[in-house]
Amino acid sequence: MTGTDADRLWSASMPAAYEEHLVPVVFRPFADDLSARAAALSPRRILELAAGTGVLTASLLAAAPSAEVTATDLNEAMVTYGSDRAPGALWRQADAQSLPFPDDAFDLVVCQFGVMFFPDKVAAFAEIRRVLAPGGRFLFNTWGPLGTHAFGAAFQAGLERAFPVDTPQFLPAVPHGYSAPALVAADLTAAGFVVEEEHELTLDGRAASVADVATGFLTGTPARAAVEERDAGPGVRAAVVEEMTARLGPGPVTAPMTAYVFRGGA
Ligand SMILES: C[S@@+](CC[C@H](N)C(=O)[O-])C[C@H]1O[C@@H](n2cnc3c(N)ncnc32)[C@H](O)[C@@H]1O
Repeated sequence: MTGTDADRLWSASMPAAYEEHLVPVVFRPFADDLSARAAALSPRRILELAAGTGVLTASLLAAAPSAEVTATDLNEAMVTYGSDRAPGALWRQADAQSLPFPDDAFDLVVCQFGVMFFPDKVAAFAEIRRVLAPGGRFLFNTWGPLGTHAFGAAFQAGLERAFPVDTPQFLPAVPHGYSAPALVAADLTAAGFVVEEEHELTLDGRAASVADVATGFLTGTPARAAVEERDAGPGVRAAVVEEMTARLGPGPVTAPMTAYVFRGGA
């Protein structure tokens, strides 16, 4: 499933909420993993796609200080936020399906939890391959099924409690909607990549407050639009926090999150 346009939209205050409430718990552990893998390849020119608020960008700049990092994202609000947070990279707005770069321009393309948002994966992967120099690599991660992500699964259960009918489906449909490794590998191959590495990775997320994580999903992701369009009022957050707390405790909590890491050779 590819999701709607609203599922790909981060606007106005959403990047700040995403950065404050979700990045430290959910995204930073995987950014540290991916940047170490990137640095081990010793790339000179790195392109990052769907860079968001720049958690991987900052980690890459630290892990590979001599590399030239170009960071991009579809949403201007993310580019504005990320360029403040990780100014050592060159930032620009770009849709991964239509990259504003010449052929053979990069040694490594990296993307953390972004490919699930690309409407046509094979087309995006072919575009990525176009901008890679011969021998270049595409390194990225995707989420496993929603049930393997303790925070996401608890949040979705909270939404089911708040909206027993017509439950918003952002998490299962988009971030966790491309979670079959064989499909991802087949799409890479269809775009002309050789799949050099593919493995499952489970890391822990540590949250001081489960209510804070609920705020992150409700205000810092496209789930926000789905909730707002149902016009349900403040009871939604209370129901979500109650359900998440019943499942995980109020916090502090340490809980597992499963992803897949892929490396394709151009
Ligand atoms: C879950 S966030 C991941 C952000 C960042 N990589 C991180 O780890 O925090 C997904 C990102 O994909 C971006 N995005 C969605 N569709 C895109 C597209 N077609 N091209 C590039 N970026 C896209 C969104 O703006 C958002 O920043």
